[in-house]
Formats: sequence, structure tokens, C-alpha cells
Amino acid sequence: MFRKQLFTKVNALFFETAQALFSNSLAQPPITEFNIKVNRMTIESKTIKEADTKYELHDLITSRWSPRAFSDKPIEDELMQEFFEAASWAPSSMNEQPWAYLYAHREDMENFERFVNCLAEANQVWAKDSAVLMVCLAKKNYDYKGRPNDKAHHDLGMANLQLVLQAQHRDVYGHMMGGFDKEKTIETFEIDTEVYDPVCFMALGYLGNPDQLNEKQRKGETSERERKKLSEFVFKNELP
Ligand SMILES: Cc1cc2nc3c(=O)[nH]c(=O)nc-3n(C[C@H](O)[C@H](O)[C@H](O)COP(=O)(O)O)c2cc1C
Repeated sequence: MFRKQLFTKVNALFFETAQALFSNSLAQPPITEFNIKVNRMTIESKTIKEADTKYELHDLITSRWSPRAFSDKPIEDELMQEFFEAASWAPSSMNEQPWAYLYAHREDMENFERFVNCLAEANQVWAKDSAVLMVCLAKKNYDYKGRPNDKAHHDLGMANLQLVLQAQHRDVYGHMMGGFDKEKTIETFEIDTEVYDPVCFMALGYLGNPDQLNEKQRKGETSERERKKLSEFVFKNELP
């Protein structure tokens, strides 16, 4: 609670200073009125999305959220490799690491569009502006003895979270999507369904301006995040 108020104050101070600089004749050219507005909106959505927690949680946890407004700044491929490495260090049943990622950068428009076209329309409208899109796949069977791996979705989720937290550490935001056409995805990417289950998509990018979204999305982008109370899902000794 206190941290959030402090964060808001520091941001306000920063932008007041930036604005003062802009109106001053000594102002440097990169700070334009437009930039100030874009940054202010971006910072405002960042502030409002900061988790309001009772306990002092790690910054990476409180600052992670799923945006829809992405800037047009690309993500270096080397940085993507860093995120995938973070995913690779997730725990998994029998250390089988039953995940796979198929991705494309937006600059590679031809490939990127194949990903966009597999998404549900409601996701396409904003995810088309992300820097990277990917399909997150779970391996159906353990490599060991080929038995069905009923923990694979769980393990992919762990890897995904490690990936987005590492991304967060670099100011890159991730947004997972279950809204996609599975059949089309399998067909488009010639996925061997004996081996893989395409579980979700993920959009990644630097934070953009909520103003670039439609009204409904903008509302979501600028409203506080909510969570269930612990008492609704944590039980001592027995379930209610
Ligand atoms: C597996 C999964 C599927 C999701 N599917 C979608 C989706 O199709 N479209 C969307 O806009 N958000 C989707 N989300 C994002 C959730 O709505 C979001 O994580 C949730 O509202 C909590 O918000 P937060 O991530 O900002 O804390 C998905 C998230 C996960 C983990």
C-alpha cells in the first residue's frame, strides 16, 4: 500500500520535472510533448497495475502484469535467448523439461502473421502489436519409458512464469493467451500431436501507451488488478 503511494509520488515528481524542462528553452530535443504524454500514460498504467499486497513481496512479482498495449520497440533476439534460458531452469517432474517454444519477431512479418492468424479475434487486435509472439507447447509423454506425462502442463506453466519474470527483469512484459484456434495452430505449424500439445500463446514486448487500445481494452489496461483472498484458496488441515 505504502510502496504504491510512494511509487506514484516519485513518478509524478519525475514527470513534473520533465515537463518543466520541456517548457524551458534549454530543454533537449528528445523530450517532446508527445513523449511526455506517452510516457506518462505508460507509467500511470504501470503504477496502477502494481500489486497491492499485505506482505512485502519481491518486486518482480508485484510489478508483473499482462498488458495489451505494447510499444513498437523490438526485443533483441539475444534477450529472447536469455528469457528461454530462464524458462529452462524451471523445475519439472523427473527433470524432463517437457516444454517447447515456437516464436517469431514482429519484424519477420511473414512468420509473425502466421502466429497472429491463429489467435482468437479478441486477442489479435492487440497482440498483433507485440514484439514477439510464441506458441507454448507441452510434451505429451515422458521421454523416460514414453509414459503419459500428466504433469507436463504444470511444468510448462512453471517455465512460462520463469520466462516472464526474467523478461520483467528486463522491462519486457509477457501476456499469455488461451484464446487461440488449436486446429489452425496445429495445421499452420505442422505440430505432431502425438508429441506436443499446443497449450497457449504468449505475446512479449515493451510497455506501450493504453491510448493505442480500444475503449474496452483501455479500461482493463488502466484498472487495478485484483486477487482472491487467501482464505478462499488456502486451507489448514482439511478442505471446507
Ligand atoms: C493460460 C492463460 C491464458 C490466458 N488467456 C488469455 C487470453 O486469451 N486473452 C487475454 O487477454 N488474456 C489472457 N490471459 C491473461 C489473464 O487474463 C491474466 O493473467 C489475468 O487476468 C491476471 O492478470 P495479470 O496477469 O495482469 O495479473 C491468460 C493467462 C493465462 C495464464
